[in-house]
Amino acid sequence: MPVALVTGGSAGLGRALAHALAAEGWTVIVDGRDPDRLAAAVRRGIVAIPGDVTDADHRADLVAAVRSRGSLDLLVHNASTLGPVGLATWLPKLADVTVDDLQHVWRTNLGAPLVLTTQLLGDLVASSGILMGISSDAAVEHYPGWGLYAASKAGLDHLVLTFGAENEAITAYAFDPGDMRTQMHADAFPGEDISDRPEPETVVPRLLALLAARPESGRYRAADLGAVVGV
Ligand SMILES: NC(=O)c1ccc[n+]([C@@H]2O[C@H](COP(=O)([O-])OP(=O)(O)OC[C@H]3O[C@@H](n4cnc5c(N)ncnc54)[C@H](OP(=O)(O)O)[C@@H]3O)[C@@H](O)[C@H]2O)c1
Repeated sequence: MPVALVTGGSAGLGRALAHALAAEGWTVIVDGRDPDRLAAAVRRGIVAIPGDVTDADHRADLVAAVRSRGSLDLLVHNASTLGPVGLATWLPKLADVTVDDLQHVWRTNLGAPLVLTTQLLGDLVASSGILMGISSDAAVEHYPGWGLYAASKAGLDHLVLTFGAENEAITAYAFDPGDMRTQMHADAFPGEDISDRPEPETVVPRLLALLAARPESGRYRAADLGAVVGV
C-alpha cells in the first residue's frame, strides 16, 4: 500500500487530496495546527498528526509516522501561509513587510519544506518516490501586495526542483493548482465574493493524473495539464 505525507491536510486542497488518495488505497499522513479540524478530516486510511510544520518536534513526529509505515512514496508540501493577512485591509507592499512577517512566511513556506524534505529524502529515494511543492501563479507573476508570499513560492519551486535535479531516483513537481475556493483564498480577498472560484476537489483529479502519468520533473499548472497528461 503506497504511503503519502501531505502537510496541511485538514482543509482546502490538502484535505481534498488526502481524501482522494485514501479512497485510492493510499495511507496518507496529514497534519494541521487545529487538532479538532484535523480530526474531523480523518477518514479510513488517513493518519492525523496535529502540529505546526515550523516546529521541529512536530516534524520529528511526522518522520516517525513515516518510518512506522516503512516507506514514503509521495511527499506534498501543501501547508502554507499568505503572511500578515488581516492586519491590513490588503496584503502589504514589500516596503511594509516586517522582519516578523518575513520570518513567519519563510519558516512556514520554505524552511519547513526544506528541512522536512532533507529528513525524508532517504525514504523518498529508497522508494523512487515523488516530491511535490504546491506552488502558485504568484511564484512567476509580480502582483502588488503579494511579494513576500510570492517570493516564498518561487523559492519553494526552486527547492523542490533542485532536490529533483540532485536525486535521480525521485521525481519532483512544482504544482500550481490555480485559484480555489478555500479559506486562504477568502483571506486574500477580504469581503469579496469568491463563489466563482472552483472547489479544491476539482483540482485533485488533475493532480492525481500528474502522479499517475509521472512525466519528467518540472513545474506544472493544473490548467495546462490536459496537454501533458490528457485530462
Ligand atoms: N486557494 C488558492 O486559490 C490557492 C492558489 C494557488 C496556490 N494555493 C496553494 O495551495 C495550497 C493549499 O492552500 P488552500 O487554499 O487549500 O489553503 P487552506 O484552505 O487555508 O488550508 C491550508 C491547510 O494548511 C494547514 N496549515 C497552515 N499552516 C500550517 C502550518 N504552519 N503547519 C501545519 N499545517 C498548516 C491548515 O490547517 P491549520 O490552519 O489548522 O494549521 C489547512 O489544513 C497552499 O500551498 C497555497 O499556497 C492556493
